[in-house]
Amino acid sequence: MGDSVGIGGVAYVPVLLVFRIDLKTADKPMKTLEIPLHYTHDFVGGLLPPRSRVLEVGCGGGELAARLQQDGHHVLAIDISEEAVEKARSLGVAAQLQDFVEFAPAESFDAILFTRSLHHIAPLERAAALAFELLKPEGTLVVEDFDYEAMDPPTVEWLYRLAEILGAAGLMRPFTEQKGQDRLEDWIEGHRHDPPLHTGRRMWSVLAERFPSLQRHTCCYLFRYFCQDLVENASRDEVASRIFDWEASLVERGQIRAIGLRLLARR
Ligand SMILES: C[S@@+](CC[C@H](N)C(=O)[O-])C[C@H]1O[C@@H](n2cnc3c(N)ncnc32)[C@H](O)[C@@H]1O
Repeated sequence: MGDSVGIGGVAYVPVLLVFRIDLKTADKPMKTLEIPLHYTHDFVGGLLPPRSRVLEVGCGGGELAARLQQDGHHVLAIDISEEAVEKARSLGVAAQLQDFVEFAPAESFDAILFTRSLHHIAPLERAAALAFELLKPEGTLVVEDFDYEAMDPPTVEWLYRLAEILGAAGLMRPFTEQKGQDRLEDWIEGHRHDPPLHTGRRMWSVLAERFPSLQRHTCCYLFRYFCQDLVENASRDEVASRIFDWEASLVERGQIRAIGLRLLARR
């Protein structure tokens, strides 16, 4: 990650911005399942002008879209999964079953969001071209994703070891499929998909061709696995908050890598 490669005149320069957030409300830890949403909402919400017309691509269960609607934005959410669309609709979100690369709406948008969806979407070149086409002039592209290629031995050791300890204590469901001695190989193997997931570098380079103003930041990401898989008990919220803080401080001190990726551009 410490390298920089010129792409169409734009450098792939990592910029570390951890974006810490306060997870305590009235001295109580935030609810475990709220933490990932809060982290994303804190970032995305700050980028949108009031009453923006927003397209969320790959909305999943629609939690972010619902939160943005509460903020006063007009959100159209799309997803390729029927189950996701149903869930989003149940939250009051205008959600459509739709593959983004075949999307042809009659309107354009002030902002287009991809939160953890872009690494799945193929062909990526078509997705980048369409995002450009569907944004109004001066519209904002926001991508929050992860870069599995950014993983390194100390970071994967922290992730798997902590998950194993919590699992052994009965506090977490197992989420790793560790097969060999080499945790990094297991991580890379676990992210081999058909079609392949896009790496951070690839998402960057394809978007940068369309959006010359593209900015790249890193952020925390691994806390999401814990928030998802910690078992429900009286200490879960406190444990989840502490893991979030721990990841942020290890990243800030350069002891583990930031696996989260945020890409931002103006059309
Ligand atoms: C990892 S989930 C992320 C969901 C949500 N944005 C979040 O952050 O929790 C990725 C989502 O992208 C959706 N997706 C994948 N490919 C897509 C495509 N071509 N068009 C629309 N949605 C897609 C999946 O169905 C899935 O709901």
